[in-house]
Amino acid sequence: MMLLNTIPILLTHNIIILLLIHPLHAIQSIIPLNNTCHNTCSKIPVKFPFGSSFGCGHPIFSRYIKCASGTLQFSTAAGIYTISSIDYSTKSLIITDPLMSTCSSMQNSGSFTLDRASPFTIMENNIFALVGCSRTSPVFERDAGFCDTGSGLNVCRGLYSCRGVEGIGLEPNAPISTCCVYDPTISGGLESGLALPKLQCSSYSAIYGFGGDEGDPMKWEYGISLQFNGSYYSDACKNCEDSGGFCGFSGLDEAFSCKCQNGVNTTSNCYGRGYALSGSWRHKIQTCLTIGGFLLSLIVAFF
Ligand SMILES: *[C@@H]1O[C@H](CO)[C@@H](O)[C@H](O)[C@H]1NC(C)=O
Ligand SMILES: *[C@@H]1O[C@H](CO)[C@@H](O)[C@H](O)[C@H]1NC(C)=O
Ligand SMILES: *[C@@H]1O[C@H](CO)[C@@H](O)[C@H](O)[C@H]1NC(C)=O
Repeated sequence: MMLLNTIPILLTHNIIILLLIHPLHAIQSIIPLNNTCHNTCSKIPVKFPFGSSFGCGHPIFSRYIKCASGTLQFSTAAGIYTISSIDYSTKSLIITDPLMSTCSSMQNSGSFTLDRASPFTIMENNIFALVGCSRTSPVFERDAGFCDTGSGLNVCRGLYSCRGVEGIGLEPNAPISTCCVYDPTISGGLESGLALPKLQCSSYSAIYGFGGDEGDPMKWEYGISLQFNGSYYSDACKNCEDSGGFCGFSGLDEAFSCKCQNGVNTTSNCYGRGYALSGSWRHKIQTCLTIGGFLLSLIVAFF
C-alpha cells in the first residue's frame, strides 16, 4: 500500500518541477509566437544596435549585419565576413574573412574595405600583414613609409615560417622581402581598409592578438577587430527593451518600431500589447500553470 501511494506522488512532483523549471518553454508551446527578432545568432548574442534580421536593430546597422544560414554576417562592398564575437561593453567585434590568410592556410584573398559612411572603424590594435607582394608593389616604394621595418618584420618572419605559405606559392622560410606589415604610426590608421589588387599583393593576414606567444604564429589570433558607434541607443529603445521588446524599424522611412515577442510591432513598448512575454501576462500564465500543476497533484494523490 505504501509503495502504491508514493509512486503517483513522486510522478506529480516531477510534473510540478517541470512546470516550475520550464515555464517559458511551456508558454512558447501554448502560444504561437511570431518572433521576428532574435536575441542570438548561432551562439552570438545579438543586441541593439544589431539585429538578427531586416527590421530588427538600428536601420544603419542592418545594412552591414544580419543572421543568415546560422552565422552572423558582416557585409561590405568588398565581401561578406563572419562575426566571431561581439563585446558590447567595449563596443567592439571580431570578424573573420574566409579568404584571409592564417598560419595554417594561406590563399589569394580579396580586399578588406569599409564603406566610408559606415558606423564601424578598424581598431588600432590590428596588425595587417600583406604577403606575397610583387617586388614592384607601391608598398615597397622608397619614402612611401607604408611598411613597418622594425618589429613588424617579426610578424613577417613568423608568417613565412608557416607551412601555409605554400598556398601562395612560397616555400616555408622564404625571404620576407615580399611581405609588408602595415605601419599605422607612419601612414595613419586604416580607416577604409586595404585594396589588395591595387597594392599588388596576393593575400593579407589580420592579427588582433598573439595568443600569449609571439613566437608561435599557430597560436596567433587571426581576425579583424572593429569598433562600432554605440551612440544610437535611445530612450525609446530602452523603454521598448524594458518591456521585453526588440528595438527595430519599419516602413519606408525606417522609423523606430518596437517589436514585441508575440509579433506585434508598436511605436512605444510592449506593455499591454497582447501577451508580451515579459509583461503581466507571463505572471498570469505562470500562475495558471503552477495552480494547474497543484490541482493535478491533488487529483493524482487522491487516487
Ligand atoms: C556616431 O554616430 C553619431 C550619430 O549618428 C554621430 O553623430 C557621431 O559622429 C558618430 N561617431 C563617430 C565616432 O563616428
Ligand atoms: C504573424 O506572421 C504571419 C505571417 O508571417 C502574419 O500573417 C501575421 O499577421 C503575424 N501576426 C502578428 C500578430 O503580427
Ligand atoms: C508594423 O509593421 C507593419 C508591417 O511591417 C508596418 O506596415 C507598420 O507600419 C508597423 N507599425 C509600426 C507602429 O511600426
